[in-house]
Amino acid sequence: MSSTTPEPRATEPKTAGPGSPESDDAQAPITSVFSGMQPSGELHIGNYLGALKTWVQLQERYPCIFCVVDLHALTQPFEPREMPGRIRDMVIGWLSAGLDPDRCTMFVQSTVAEHAELAWVLNTITPMGLLERMTQFKDKSKRQPENINVGLFDYPVLQAADIVVYRADGVPVGEDQVQHVEFTRDVVGKFNYRFGETFPMPRARLSQAPRVMGLDGERKMSKSLGNQIGLNDSPEEVWNKIAPAKTDIRRKRRTDPGVPEECNIFSYHRFFSSSEQQAWAAEGCRTAGIGCRECKRLVADNINAVLAPMRERRAAIERRPRLVDETLAAGTAKLRPLARETMELVRERLGLPTAERYQPSACRSRSTDPTASSPPSPSGGTGR
Ligand code: TYM
Repeated sequence: MSSTTPEPRATEPKTAGPGSPESDDAQAPITSVFSGMQPSGELHIGNYLGALKTWVQLQERYPCIFCVVDLHALTQPFEPREMPGRIRDMVIGWLSAGLDPDRCTMFVQSTVAEHAELAWVLNTITPMGLLERMTQFKDKSKRQPENINVGLFDYPVLQAADIVVYRADGVPVGEDQVQHVEFTRDVVGKFNYRFGETFPMPRARLSQAPRVMGLDGERKMSKSLGNQIGLNDSPEEVWNKIAPAKTDIRRKRRTDPGVPEECNIFSYHRFFSSSEQQAWAAEGCRTAGIGCRECKRLVADNINAVLAPMRERRAAIERRPRLVDETLAAGTAKLRPLARETMELVRERLGLPTAERYQPSACRSRSTDPTASSPPSPSGGTGR
């Protein structure tokens, strides 16, 4: 190991420990933020409330990097010809929701090759057993039994690489990603223990709505389950989805009282309605003073009030066709050197050659240097 390599810690942390979301609080100090989304379909209010809304807030306070994780998206069925449109659409969604290219950095994962390179390194210190425990892997394997690919299994390692390649420590995500962030913490602990302090310990940052349920009221909102309200939905589409959605089963007739805490529609009031409106809906439900339809009308109006400025911004962004490309190009240009710098450090820690080590010019200068230990490249070729 190089002389700059710090001594390994005395004991290897076995679990994530302090800083896990349970012990986390909104004030826990972080210095920089990384998060990502898969371009696997239209953004929905679960993505927005669980992550994107927090991203918009965090960009005001920290250096933030937001990533379209196209390499992750390859682990699920996809159509290559649709991929460019999905990436673009995702970034339009982010900009419409309030991400500002002057305040944060947005880019596409596959344009910075170091993510995949670092993932390989992290693979070599990741016990299979840790990955076998991942609930998302188990769920997705059930959902796509004909395509349980190695990438699906290895998915959390690439996610860990995404975060640590920029040495980010704040990871704003919804609840379903917490296990992956905990996994990242385990991997960081292992790496730092084995090779010396290299990566900061990241922590998940949960929003006020870490798990938004789908319109079916049974599972979390998800595009793949078809139970979503999309950020692009028109006011009519929002109403047409809310109107038939399940409410508390006790309210079979207009005169039956219900329990708002057990009604999925009421859970949306919690996210979208004022406290007075929530009190009105809860009281009306308990006493059968209002019907489910009135309750739904209010929540649909409130959802539409949040989506309206996004729709307007989307229309404005679509009138500037180069904005997305320019934003993503600037992101890649800014991040490549940072990722490269981390990989240099990682190479040094691991005893691997630095990127410069076998460049022809480096070989030439070493060949005239009697103290150089390695022989010059035999063919004088590229050294790769
Ligand atoms: P993805 O694309 O599935 O989801 C993007 C973000 O939206 C959150 N989310 C939800 N939050 C609350 N309720 C819901 N119903 C809901 N549905 C989705 C997710 O928790 C997530 O924060 N593996 C990640 C992408 C990723 C990543 C990373 C995230 C890749 N590398 C590095 C953070 C850091 C994913 O598939 O998210």
